[in-house]
Amino acid sequence: MGNISIKTAEDIEGMRLAGRLGSEVLDYITPFVKAGVTTGELDRLCHEYMVNVQGTIPAPLNYCPPGYTPYPKAICTSVNDVICHGIPGDKVLKNGDSVNLDITVIKDGYHGDNSRMFLIGEPSILTRRLSEITYECMWLGISKVKPGAHLGDIGYVIQQHAEKAGYSVVREFCGHGIGKVFHEEPQVLHYGRPGTLEKLEAGMIFTIEPMINAGRREIREMGDGWTIKTKDRSLSAQWEHTVLVTETGYEVLTLSAGSPPPPAFITSPATQAVSA
Ligand code: MF3
Ligand code: CO
Ligand code: CO
Repeated sequence: MGNISIKTAEDIEGMRLAGRLGSEVLDYITPFVKAGVTTGELDRLCHEYMVNVQGTIPAPLNYCPPGYTPYPKAICTSVNDVICHGIPGDKVLKNGDSVNLDITVIKDGYHGDNSRMFLIGEPSILTRRLSEITYECMWLGISKVKPGAHLGDIGYVIQQHAEKAGYSVVREFCGHGIGKVFHEEPQVLHYGRPGTLEKLEAGMIFTIEPMINAGRREIREMGDGWTIKTKDRSLSAQWEHTVLVTETGYEVLTLSAGSPPPPAFITSPATQAVSA
């Protein structure tokens, strides 16, 4: 506790730009995400767009936290029962699949981290509902962000919404502080109790990125050192935004022209919450 950095005005400007660019990679790739494409091709296209069009650096490439091997690709592509950190390759997307594309760009030293779900062709009702509930979980969490709120308030609303729907919350991975460093304090758990954990202050920046399983919450690590799947092979979904704590509430930094609209229960302006 107490090690969460407060960003300067200059940092916040840098994070606004990195956030928008991270979101624009998802806008760019959207028309390519259809049946027949490989996850490796999506990675190649995003990588080229980041480097050649945006002048950004893909943060995942060669990223190597303690105990890991260097991540070999520019983006993460997590299909169906893959929870997170799916490595792009020769996997072909087919009708009914769901895939999370997780993009983190570095611009002028600042990180913009976000992910969206893409549903291929005609997905099942379960596939659609899991993605929708997970999207609502993310936005419910975002809606709690304001000075004086606690991190536990965020985890609580996410867990409540997921479990009420009959789903489970992954515990081993969480949101994180972010800035010039990809993953920094605090850890943003997607479960918990109101009024617990760190108190939020204006100038903090962190991600909210719930991973929600249709079945049980337990995970299974694949032999590649990165890919995480559901132990029971049930479907998993994830959405992610990078969020700034403002004086009055929050500002979502990873928005762009192609961002899906917030759920109807978000009544304040799209990026800027007004204090109650
Ligand atoms: N973008 C992921 C996150 O939301 C982290 C991916 S690390 C990687 O925190 F190395 F797998 F890319
Ligand atoms: Co993240
Ligand atoms: Co991410």
